Amino acid sequence: MSEQAGYVPVVGAVAEPQPAPEKSYRFSEQAIQELEEILTHYPDKKSAILPALWIAQREYDGYLPPQAIQEVADRLERPFVEVEGVATFYTMYNLRKRGRHHLEVCTCLTCAVMGAYEVVHHLEKRLGVKVGQTTSDGEFTLSEVECLNYCGAATVVQVGDKYFGNITKENVDELIETLRNSNEFTPADLANAIVRLHIPERTAKK
Ligand code: FES
Repeated sequence: MSEQAGYVPVVGAVAEPQPAPEKSYRFSEQAIQELEEILTHYPDKKSAILPALWIAQREYDGYLPPQAIQEVADRLERPFVEVEGVATFYTMYNLRKRGRHHLEVCTCLTCAVMGAYEVVHHLEKRLGVKVGQTTSDGEFTLSEVECLNYCGAATVVQVGDKYFGNITKENVDELIETLRNSNEFTPADLANAIVRLHIPERTAKK
């Protein structure tokens, strides 16, 4: 193909569509049933992309690799690119694996006034990472988030499906140690909690 006048190829740029991800379905029987139930709440399959992605985020260990997006696309009979567009729009979907515990420190106004940045900077030093990074042992990812709507307990740190309130740079080390010894409050637990909100009847039956 001849080059257009003035066209300068960018070194390292991806110029062509990428191959579709390998198909390797991971939804459990329970996940399939949950999706079927959720589908009854909507007029069409497209409308269920958000909850279907939450099921996928749980089933794929707390994040959405391309295979997870492909599985949702196939189960909802939608194009991959459409589901990918939704998954990449909302920050609560994890496109990359997070640490076993994802520390989301609220740095919005009330928490900031109550010392949230001291907590963040203490955690950066203690864990040896910057905001947005994961520790090399895969235990913790550190993030800043907007108001978690629990301002009365500032500073608030969300870890998976749990809020920890009144966190200070003095007591946050204790939280880190508690989490190191805990298998709860994982990114997958958060995804599961949100799936449950979509099907409260099913949760209540258990
Ligand atoms: S400002 Fe932190 S929870 Fe509202």
